Amino acid sequence: MSSHLIAAQTRAVTKSFGSGTSRIEVLHDVNLNTYESEILMLLGPSGCGKTTLISIIAGTLTPDRGEVTVLGQELHKMSKAAITKFRARNVGFIFQQFNLIPTITCEENACVPLLIQGMSMSRALPHAREMLAQVGLQEHMKKRPNQLSGGQQQRVAIARALVHKPRLIICDEPTAALDAENGRMVMELFRSLIRQPGRCALVVTHDHRILHFADRIATMNDGKIIESVPTEEFDFEHHQ
Ligand SMILES: Nc1ncnc2c1ncn2[C@@H]1O[C@H](COP(=O)(O)OP(=O)(O)O)[C@@H](O)[C@H]1O
Ligand SMILES: [Mg+2]
Repeated sequence: MSSHLIAAQTRAVTKSFGSGTSRIEVLHDVNLNTYESEILMLLGPSGCGKTTLISIIAGTLTPDRGEVTVLGQELHKMSKAAITKFRARNVGFIFQQFNLIPTITCEENACVPLLIQGMSMSRALPHAREMLAQVGLQEHMKKRPNQLSGGQQQRVAIARALVHKPRLIICDEPTAALDAENGRMVMELFRSLIRQPGRCALVVTHDHRILHFADRIATMNDGKIIESVPTEEFDFEHHQ
């Protein structure tokens, strides 16, 4: 299943927040590999540093020390502007909070990554509608986010993150607000999108219902990766 080519890698990544005596190191020398064509799920208790780590891989947060290589690009050697441009083209980030724009429709929300890349709204809309249909929202495209349920809003956020067919899909608890059926739909969509070479998905989750969609499962605790194994080697009973 995995070609074992590395898609994203962190080496000895360290990150602290705060300053002076209230400075706290939340990532300690984190080494993590994600491989092409793989869905990697990242598990770990609240506060252990999952969101911090995936934000560093996505390029939205800079580590204090360490190396981050994503799709062959060494982010630690790139300027902020170059990282922003790289991220806009190659990364689809699904936030824990959906971050939808409340004043525009769902289809307009789903266009945003394409607009950022300079596409016109009229050219972007068909792509947005296609992706919204793939997450089962064809009936709701003209509504504003507050006219939808939490699970539907989460699917709009997913469609928006995927509309530009990013090579790296990163999502922070993508199925938290979804029922089993929609959770499965979203994981199957990820699977179909990463089938092309050079793509992968990194998914933070607490949701044991979707763990079997992973190719590899990494476990984090207290700012460190403590295990990263193929799903068939993962000890499900121990982690219930
Ligand atoms: N911007 C920030 N400023 C200060 N502390 C932060 C910030 N972001 C995260 N933290 C702290 O870093 C630790 C790890 O947070 P986070 O990466 O969000 O964990 P997780 O996603 O695993 O719940 C927590 O103790 C959190 O309070
Ligand atoms: Mg988090």
